[in-house]
Amino acid sequence: MSFRVHGSVAVPGDKSLTHRALMLAACATGDSRLSGLLPGEDCRSTASVLRALGCDVPAPPADGGEIVVRGRGLHAWRAPGAPLDCGNSGTTSRLMMGLLASRPFAAVLTGDASLRGRPMRRITGPLERMGAGFRELDGAGKLPIEITGGALRPLHYTSPKASAQIKSAVLLAALGAGVEASVTEPALSRDHTERMLAALGAPVRSEAVEGGVRASLGAWGGEIPPLELRVPGDPSSAAFLAALALLASGGELRLPGVLANPTRTGFFSIVKRMKGLLEWERGRAVAGEPVSDLVVRPSRLRGVEVGADQIPAAIDEVPILAALAARAEGETRITGAGELRVKESDRIAAIVAGLRAVGAAAEELEDGLVVRGGDHPLRGRVVTHGDHRIAMAFGVLGAIPGNEIEVDDRDCAAVSYPGFWEVLERVVER
Ligand code: S3P
Repeated sequence: MSFRVHGSVAVPGDKSLTHRALMLAACATGDSRLSGLLPGEDCRSTASVLRALGCDVPAPPADGGEIVVRGRGLHAWRAPGAPLDCGNSGTTSRLMMGLLASRPFAAVLTGDASLRGRPMRRITGPLERMGAGFRELDGAGKLPIEITGGALRPLHYTSPKASAQIKSAVLLAALGAGVEASVTEPALSRDHTERMLAALGAPVRSEAVEGGVRASLGAWGGEIPPLELRVPGDPSSAAFLAALALLASGGELRLPGVLANPTRTGFFSIVKRMKGLLEWERGRAVAGEPVSDLVVRPSRLRGVEVGADQIPAAIDEVPILAALAARAEGETRITGAGELRVKESDRIAAIVAGLRAVGAAAEELEDGLVVRGGDHPLRGRVVTHGDHRIAMAFGVLGAIPGNEIEVDDRDCAAVSYPGFWEVLERVVER
């Protein structure tokens, strides 16, 4: 069971930033130069949906090299000839609804079986209040949904959830319509849309208010300027490799150029409370976002309590956090994470079933889970439900010599981390 990690891995570009950069470049007038984009399937879905709307948006290249998006402004967008396939990507479908809300034509959004099972009224509700029209083709608030856009009214919306997808959909709708809007959320969700809009010169503001945090965009007419952006590494992908290094018995792993936005680094803060040895080095800023190098060392982890206030900044990292907890001393209790039930899979059920299938002790709560750590070998077969983060979380446990874990669908990791399995092999010293 003892193994060493070594080397330095530049993780692929941040998924949330890649979606936003592609979308805003397609709204802009002029040539945007983008590099370091995530070539994962989710971001390729965003590029192909934008192409289907008549935008000149190349697919993000596999090597992270530069692309030029020749933007002709939102007015140049055209009605698509077929349903827009968002694949597995919730962010593509929900942020595109925001942008399509102001376009004077109808478009149908659809996706794969997982995405067609996810709730959309959280987005269509506020956009309908702004004046967009929606038709649920299958009923029940799920895709496929037809959206008909047009002139929009301003909206000041209080969101029941801390969700960047809800917040971004409303702000992007307001951007396209040139009207003001604000979203008050109970806690700050990832704020990349606000930061990227601010970097473009848009009148955005973020402030603490009673009952949460409010992001507002003032009425902003005229053309959106093009962007120049090198997308930093995705902290959600870095989390998997960091976890492997924490579970090692020797060596060190360096992860240079990781996005260190505090709305995204909750996993790393929780790991520190678990007595994990990790350091952020050489902090710097890239296009209004903090970026750092991450250095991770083998650690003796202890179980912790993780409550609702820590979930928004760690929402996508709960699968790997639970995997770490299975190797920590004592119990880890995660609550206030009910949103995990409507991610790419029901992640609470998928994690607990996976941990039990390999012989770890875990229990579901309605809004979270309890994991009891141990150090016996883990063996068994894990069902991912096609969920990339479930596949990678168990991939990390399976990479540890002595464990024998079969992941039913390894290919789905390419949704957010193409090349994940090769990197995993490379960093373990045998
Ligand atoms: C994302 C927001 C989060 C996150 C998702 C990406 C984004 O979803 O889980 O993977 O890029 O805006 P919610 O806004 O629904 O929490």
